[in-house]
Amino acid sequence: MSRRALLQYLELLKQSGVQQLFLPATALPDPAEKKATLARLAQSYSNCQKCPLAAGRINLVYGEGNPDACTMLIGEGPGDNENKTGHPFVGPAGQLLDKMLAAIQINRADIYITNIVKCRPPQNRNPMSEERLACMPYLIEQIQIIQPQILLIMGLVAAQSLLGTTASLSWHRQKQHEFLGIPAFVTYHPAALLRNPHWKRPAWDDLQAFQKYYQQLC
Ligand code: URA
Repeated sequence: MSRRALLQYLELLKQSGVQQLFLPATALPDPAEKKATLARLAQSYSNCQKCPLAAGRINLVYGEGNPDACTMLIGEGPGDNENKTGHPFVGPAGQLLDKMLAAIQINRADIYITNIVKCRPPQNRNPMSEERLACMPYLIEQIQIIQPQILLIMGLVAAQSLLGTTASLSWHRQKQHEFLGIPAFVTYHPAALLRNPHWKRPAWDDLQAFQKYYQQLC
C-alpha cells in the first residue's frame, strides 16, 4: 500500500471513531476462509447500533458475491427491497445493474457487491456523513478481506464518500481514482439511470472503459 493510500485509510478510520488498530498478521488468501469470515462478520454486525439508521432496519445488508472477487462494486445504501430481503441491489435499480453488468460480460456472482451504508436510510434519502462514517470500517474490513483489484463505484454519494471530495459526478467519471491504493472507476448509479434514461449513453462509455481495465486485470 502506498503512503497516500495508507494515510487515506488511517484518516477514514479516525473520522469513523476507530481508536485502535489490530491488523491481521497475514492475508486471508483462501476463498473458503474469506467466505466464512465475511459470513461471521455479517452476523456479528446484524444488530449494529452505531448510527440512527438502525431504527429503520429490517435487515442489515452487508454485501454478497464472490469472496475472492477481482472487482468490488460499491453502491450507496439499501432501499426498501434490500432492507426487506437483506440482499444488495435486488429492486428495480438492481435489475438494471444486472443488465449493465451483462452488457460488459460480467455476472453478478463473479463480483462482490456492497454499499457505503449497510442499513436503509428513511425514504431512501442520502445517507448523512455521520452515518457513512459509522459504516466505513465495515467497508474497509470487507476490502481487506476480499482484496479486490478494481472498485466500481456507483453514483455521486458513494464516490464522494470514498474519495473524500465534494466534486460533481462528471468530474469523478472523467478520471480513474484510487481508494486505499486500489484503482477505482466511477459511474452513474442505476437508480439515477432509471430516473434519467438519457444518461445511459455516457454510462455505457464508463462501463466500456471499466471493462477494458477489468479484462486486462481480472
Ligand atoms: N441502491 C444502492 O445503492 N444499493 C442497493 O443495494 C440498492 C439500491
